[in-house]
Amino acid sequence: MRKNIVAGNWKMHKTQKETVALIEEIFAKKPNTTTEIIVAPTFVNLSKAVEITNGKGITVAAQNMHQAEGGAFTGEIAASMLTDIGVTTVILGHSERRAYFHETDALLASKVDTALKHEMRIISCFGEELKDRQQNNHFNIVEYQLRDGLFHLEKKDWANIVLAYEPVWAIGTGETASPEQAQEIHAHIRSLIAAKYGQEVADEISILYGGSVKPDNAKEIFSQPDIDGGLIGGAALKIEDFSKIIEGFN
Ligand code: PGA
Repeated sequence: MRKNIVAGNWKMHKTQKETVALIEEIFAKKPNTTTEIIVAPTFVNLSKAVEITNGKGITVAAQNMHQAEGGAFTGEIAASMLTDIGVTTVILGHSERRAYFHETDALLASKVDTALKHEMRIISCFGEELKDRQQNNHFNIVEYQLRDGLFHLEKKDWANIVLAYEPVWAIGTGETASPEQAQEIHAHIRSLIAAKYGQEVADEISILYGGSVKPDNAKEIFSQPDIDGGLIGGAALKIEDFSKIIEGFN
């Protein structure tokens, strides 16, 4: 059965002290739940986060990594450096990486390959921009993103993939896709996986929704049959909000 996941993408927020404090607060408020809780602090705080969560039921993820094994890539981080410190989950293809760092589906495909080679689990983000939705082109856009970024994978690789559908127009804007809009496209995404890899793979894949998930809309979003959790930005930075969002599954 596929897993429910609530993941906090902390982006470029939180010093080490603040990282430790927030993780401790999550432990203190975390309900007894089968939902997997993931936190993704910035690179410099990953080691510390791994140290304090180790084996205690919160997963630590990186927000990005480079596709090369190593080399002259100033400022970048390789997969082996993440796994070496105990980070085995990585977020790839976030819309901010696509928009500000020009990451394309082709580049992301090679990052995915590298991560899988290192036996990492990938939270693969994608989603349409506002103009695509206004032109009623969002179904095609997500199909192309899946095709170009992930559909070169073999069936077995999908055991290590989590999808995160994040409409760009809903990220950090306070605009949320309605639960019906989100469900409609999540069902479409699952049907694309089923058509390419079979129903069994499609049924097993967790598909998260991201984009202005808040305590007051989480429960309704998570209650949709094809939504298996959330990738949370702003509301993951405040314990009151994040813990209420986790409770959205209870
Ligand atoms: P938001 O961000 O929850 O602040 O909209 C979501 C994300 O960027 O993953």
